[in-house]
Amino acid sequence: MTVISSRPSSPNSNDAPRLITAPPLLRAKGLRKTYGRIVAVDEVSLEVYPGEVMGIVGESGSGKSTVLRLLNLEEPADVGAYTLDIPDYAGVNLFTLERFARRMVQIQHIGIVYQNPYLGLRMRYTSSGNVAERLLITGERRFSTLREAARSWLAASEFPLDRMDDPPRKLSGGMQQRVQLAKAIALKPRVLLLDEPTTGLDVSVQALVLDTLKRLQRELHLAMVLVSHDLGVIRTLADRVLVMRGGRVIESGLTDQVLEDPQDAYTQQLVHAKL
Ligand SMILES: Nc1ncnc2c1ncn2[C@@H]1O[C@H](COP(=O)(O)OP(=O)(O)O)[C@@H](O)[C@H]1O
Ligand SMILES: [Mg+2]
Repeated sequence: MTVISSRPSSPNSNDAPRLITAPPLLRAKGLRKTYGRIVAVDEVSLEVYPGEVMGIVGESGSGKSTVLRLLNLEEPADVGAYTLDIPDYAGVNLFTLERFARRMVQIQHIGIVYQNPYLGLRMRYTSSGNVAERLLITGERRFSTLREAARSWLAASEFPLDRMDDPPRKLSGGMQQRVQLAKAIALKPRVLLLDEPTTGLDVSVQALVLDTLKRLQRELHLAMVLVSHDLGVIRTLADRVLVMRGGRVIESGLTDQVLEDPQDAYTQQLVHAKL
């Protein structure tokens, strides 16, 4: 595994200035998304560097999931630009791509884990089949090879392999999230998007899933955008954090700084309520 010198040893370490040499992997600028008269997201901009974890916090309805859907190219923003530093598309506003090209970028370069496993998985396929399906795009069709690859990604996600032929609907919430994770990383994306990945899990299970996420993030040098209303989750994983309210970013900075010394009155309220 390559160790990038610009990355601090601990995700939240503040002791050394971050030496950023690579350009941002992900840039979103001025995103706006409306649904009828509801402004779900407005003037949201963010940059995420290779191997960096960007957290997004905010109360329910603040626009967090909408930002992730935009970053996952599930729908285009009404206004704004989104670029990824990936071959063939550097500098291209991905919202302008045709549907097929957008889908290819999404599959090859972006992984996503939803809070609700029904959004991310086919609940009646086997768990290994869910991961193998993702690998079909590589052109591989041999069942044994696909199954072996699926097994190794499930193992990387610390999924209990004796359950790999069970459909997700028969699994616990923690196991379902591990299948989603295996599927999300199976094509080695540069960016992993996580929408409340551990919300609703038992606290002890949540801690184990977070450990797995942290390890995979380091080993695969993933850039992550992690949405959570849980400041503990953000503190554990995120290098930097954006605080959203009413569709806008109201505060941003290094996670430790924002959580220890919030400047905005709303963030102060959030921090004091949750910690
Ligand atoms: N598909 C949609 N249709 C209509 N309104 C939506 C849709 N998605 C989100 N919204 C609205 O946009 C706002 C932000 O929602 P969301 O991004 O889900 O917030 P969060 O994830 O922070 O809870 C909310 O008012 C929500 O009701
Ligand atoms: Mg949400």
